[in-house]
Amino acid sequence: MAEFRLPANSKMTIGKLYQASENASRVKSFKVYRYDPDDEENPRIDTFQIDLDECGPMILDALIKIKNEVDTTLTFRRSCREGICGSCAMNIDGTNTLACLKPIDEVNGDVKIYPLPHMEVIKDLVPDLSNAYAQLESIEPWLKTKDTPTKDTERVQSIDDRAKLDGMWECVLCFSCSTSCPSYWWNGDKYLGPAILLQAYRWIADSRDDYAKERLDSLEDPFKLYRCHTIMNCTKTCPKGLNPAKAIAEIKKMMVLRQ
Ligand code: F3S
Ligand code: FES
Repeated sequence: MAEFRLPANSKMTIGKLYQASENASRVKSFKVYRYDPDDEENPRIDTFQIDLDECGPMILDALIKIKNEVDTTLTFRRSCREGICGSCAMNIDGTNTLACLKPIDEVNGDVKIYPLPHMEVIKDLVPDLSNAYAQLESIEPWLKTKDTPTKDTERVQSIDDRAKLDGMWECVLCFSCSTSCPSYWWNGDKYLGPAILLQAYRWIADSRDDYAKERLDSLEDPFKLYRCHTIMNCTKTCPKGLNPAKAIAEIKKMMVLRQ
């Protein structure tokens, strides 16, 4: 097994090693980013050796086992454990993904686990998503109409119009895509990033929404939309197999067509 080394200029330190018991038969090492804002230390990488015969199949199972049995201070978000809530997004083996959907046996060698890149870290694997949620709020991700329906009528939609939302409603807002995008890394305060732009297009494309024009107007900005340079990391990394780059391209196309 290759020795784990930190880059020469890294401010991180090699942390603790938690060894598996001598009876363990199938041992895998999990190298996990640790940062505690209260201890005034640099971040470190702790190594947890886990017996895979005593662990569930997913990366999230290993993290829960570590937290329950080895180090209760390990901090990460999770809720549904089946790819629905989007809260367990992190960087695993160099790729942003959902820990609950990532099988351990898909990772060769040691499993390296870091928080989502280029975000402020609150603690360990928990990034600060305040900016991303404020950006989500800014695109008003709810149905907006100009009329008021009567109490007992529904807003109907044709099957074809409903199908236009496929590939967008499935987004769980894990922000794996936005945090893989170099444009978002450098301009995340002004560029909305692929996750939010996918959500924006989800409402622009909804036949029941009456505010597509105003929604497009609000994106007509050198940063909010046009900082997408078609780098495509977003689509490559999406753990739900969605295509935010295509949604961004559709918005840009609408911008041209309406001129
Ligand atoms: Fe970024 Fe995806 Fe555009 S990676 S630059 S949002 S195509
Ligand atoms: Fe909900 Fe992973 S725990 S998406």
